[in-house]
Amino acid sequence: MRTLITGGTIVTATDHYVGDVLIDGETVAAVGVDLAGTLEQPVDKTIDASGKHVIPGGIDCHTHLDMPFGGSFSVDDFKTGTIAAAHGGTTCVIDFAIQEHGLPMQQAWDTWMGKAEGKAAIDYGFHMILREFNEGLRKEMGTMVDTGVTSFKLFMAYPGVFYVDDAGIFGAMQRSKEIGATICMHAENGLVIDVLIEQALKAGHTEPRYHALTRPPRAEAEATHRAICLAEMADVPVYIVHLSAAEALLEVGRARGRGVPVYAETCPQYLFLSDDNYEEPDFGGAKYVMSPPLRAKETQADLWRGLKYNDLQAISTDHCPFCFKEGKQLGKDDFSKIPNGAPGIEHRMVLTYDGGVAAGRISMNRWVELTSTSPAKIFGLFPKKGTIAPGSDADIVIFDTEKESVISVDTHHMNVDYSAYEGRKVKGSCETVLSRGAVVVDNGEFAGRAGSGQFVKRLQREWS
Ligand code: URP
Ligand code: ZN
Ligand code: ZN
Repeated sequence: MRTLITGGTIVTATDHYVGDVLIDGETVAAVGVDLAGTLEQPVDKTIDASGKHVIPGGIDCHTHLDMPFGGSFSVDDFKTGTIAAAHGGTTCVIDFAIQEHGLPMQQAWDTWMGKAEGKAAIDYGFHMILREFNEGLRKEMGTMVDTGVTSFKLFMAYPGVFYVDDAGIFGAMQRSKEIGATICMHAENGLVIDVLIEQALKAGHTEPRYHALTRPPRAEAEATHRAICLAEMADVPVYIVHLSAAEALLEVGRARGRGVPVYAETCPQYLFLSDDNYEEPDFGGAKYVMSPPLRAKETQADLWRGLKYNDLQAISTDHCPFCFKEGKQLGKDDFSKIPNGAPGIEHRMVLTYDGGVAAGRISMNRWVELTSTSPAKIFGLFPKKGTIAPGSDADIVIFDTEKESVISVDTHHMNVDYSAYEGRKVKGSCETVLSRGAVVVDNGEFAGRAGSGQFVKRLQREWS
């Protein structure tokens, strides 16, 4: 099957010009100006993109689909979650498989492949969450890298659940150096946070806003600083996930200024929502209970600055949806029992186009870089994914920069009963989306197939 996308403005992390894209099978065969006139063989399909932008498919490098957490499961599985992602212009997700205490990572890999295979409508990869670190797991990290799972997430938060102590983190970091893997860090001081939670509950503070008050920015900054120091001692880069606090961003910026290879992502919720949301009536604040929590509104400007000047290199969603009526109610009388996480997989691209490019905060090239190219490079997907170039997967979005829409639970495709952005008007729309050459969203309608997504074997980091 040969498809020609004609007359669109092609935007990658570095390019911006009007041209055509020729797709042969699953990959891009050629990119150029007026390709149509030079083709020797006819194409099977032509997509007219004139007046539209043609960008690489988005890569969401932080999702939790069908994830067991806090007494329930995140409510988007690999079918609903990836269909919603496709509608939002994301053509590849990197989800988190979870190693269980006492069990090998292979068991987690089998479980997560079982969740994804035959269901995902777009391509997917896995990071591996390590709940502990020991000799067996140290060895198995190498096997995982050979399998294409080249990054491991460790938690400085959630004692008794995901928490790994500094020695374990340091050991995993040293091992990551040997095998060219990346350590992703959930940087919050969980031991101190648990003390604050206990004190708040003892004082009778049970409402959702205490979730934020017991996870102060300094707890994130301290853990971020510690993670960086541990990585520096292990002589490896580190990737800080879901960075939310200005104080943590300062730590990243300072380290980068000293030449330490620290990378970090933030998420749309930290760019567009704030701790004011915890005040929503009728337990509405529970919709925004996630970790790290939403911060003061002023933080948003710091995060945008970090994105613009490259102290932050990626925008992911940390999509981890729990329904308001069912899941979030688990914490009606105790904020610490509210399942942590919020939906967002569908609106990352439009929210950040609208709030970033349309609002004049970042360029269109930088937007593509933050939402696709840079995550592809950091996580070993580039140049297969993250750009439009001969040989790369034909994961492409035809983006209408002018079309406006209103985000709502009534129109979204995620399997969750609320939107964190209900009623927000956004400019920009992912009109047509291709995944490895196949149209999966056609003029806003799903045209793909659950199960057509493939596991992507990721590469080791270049610095290994
Ligand atoms: O609240 C969150 N972020 N839930 C998902 C798990 C995690 O820590 O990323
Ligand atoms: Zn986390
Ligand atoms: Zn997460």
